[in-house]
Amino acid sequence: MGYKAYKKRKKNGADQRAGEILREMLRCRFIAGKRAEEAAAKKNRRRKQAAVIAGSAAAAVAAAWTLWADTAVMIHEMTVKKDRIPQSFSGLRITQISDFHNSVCGEKKEKLIRLVKKSAPDLIFITGDLIDSRHTDTETAADFIERIVSEAPVYYVPGNHESRIPDAYRELKKSMKASGVHILQNEAEYIEKDGEKIQIIGVNDPDFHADRHGSEGISRKSGLKEEILSREQQRAENAACIFEEVSRLRDEEFFTFLLSHRPELFETYVRCGIDFVFSGHAHGGQFRLPLAGGLFAPGQGFFPAYDGGLYERKETSMIVSRGIGASVIPLRFNNRPEIVAAEIIRSRKSHDR
Ligand SMILES: [Fe+2]
Repeated sequence: MGYKAYKKRKKNGADQRAGEILREMLRCRFIAGKRAEEAAAKKNRRRKQAAVIAGSAAAAVAAAWTLWADTAVMIHEMTVKKDRIPQSFSGLRITQISDFHNSVCGEKKEKLIRLVKKSAPDLIFITGDLIDSRHTDTETAADFIERIVSEAPVYYVPGNHESRIPDAYRELKKSMKASGVHILQNEAEYIEKDGEKIQIIGVNDPDFHADRHGSEGISRKSGLKEEILSREQQRAENAACIFEEVSRLRDEEFFTFLLSHRPELFETYVRCGIDFVFSGHAHGGQFRLPLAGGLFAPGQGFFPAYDGGLYERKETSMIVSRGIGASVIPLRFNNRPEIVAAEIIRSRKSHDR
C-alpha cells in the first residue's frame, strides 16, 4: 500500500469513527431528551394527581362542613342599649325564634329546645313562618311550641307562609292558643312591671291581605327591569299597609317592641318611631359568602341590605334573625341556623336624665 492509499484509508477510518461518535452523541442526546420529557410528563402527572386529591379533599371537607353547619343551631347573643326602656325592664332577655319552617325535627329540635332553655328568656318572640306552605307539618311546629311555653311568655306573629295555607294555619293557631301563646295579628299588648309599662305590637305579614297573590307579588314573566320595578311597587304597598297598622296600634307614651316578619320595611318602622323591631324572613340570605354576606333574600333580592343582625337608625333598633330553616332550596351555606338571645339594657344616657 502506498503512502497516499494509507493516508486515504486512515482518513476514512477517522471519518467513520467521527461519524460513529457523532451518531452516539446524537443517540445519547435523544435518549437524554426522551428521559427529560418522560420525567417532565411524570412530574406533570403527579402534579395533576396532587391537585385532584387536594381538590377532592377540599370539596369533601366543604361538603361535610356545609352539612354540619346547616343543622348546627346556635345562640346569637346580643346586648342592645336603649334610652327609652324603663328601668324596671332594663336587662330584659328576649329569645327570638324565626322561620322555623317546620323543618326541625329529631335531634335538631331537641337541641333547639335545649338552647331556648339555655338562653334564659324573660320573653320569647316568634316572628313568622313557623310552618312552611310547601311541606306543611303543623304537628312538628305545635309540639315545639308546647315544649317551650313553660320557659317564658311566647308572643307570635305569622309570616307569608302562614298566609298561604289558611286551613293549616287555623289548626296551628288553635293549638298555640291552647298552649297560651299570645298571637298578635294587628294587635298590641302591654306588660307591666313595678308600675312601669312597655308595649308589644304584632302585625300580620302583608300577604295576609286578601288581594295579594304569591309571596312577593312579582310577575316572573316580566323582564328583569319590570321585575325590579314590580318588587319596589310591592314593597311600597307593603310599607303603606304596615305603616297604617303600626300607626294605629302604637302608643307613643310607652317603649314599644314591634314583631313584624319583614325586615325590608325597616324605613317604615323608623318612620313609625318604633323603639325595637324583631324580624326574620331573610334566612340570612340563605347562602352567606365570605366578605359579601347573604346572597339572596325574598323581598330584597340579591345581596340584601337586611340579612341578619342588628340595624339601628334614629331611635329605632331592628334585630333580623337568620332563622332556623329554609324554604325553596332546603340547604343553607355558611349560615348556621340561629336563635337570637337579646338583652336590652337601659343606657347610661337615660340614667343621667
Ligand atoms: Fe318568610
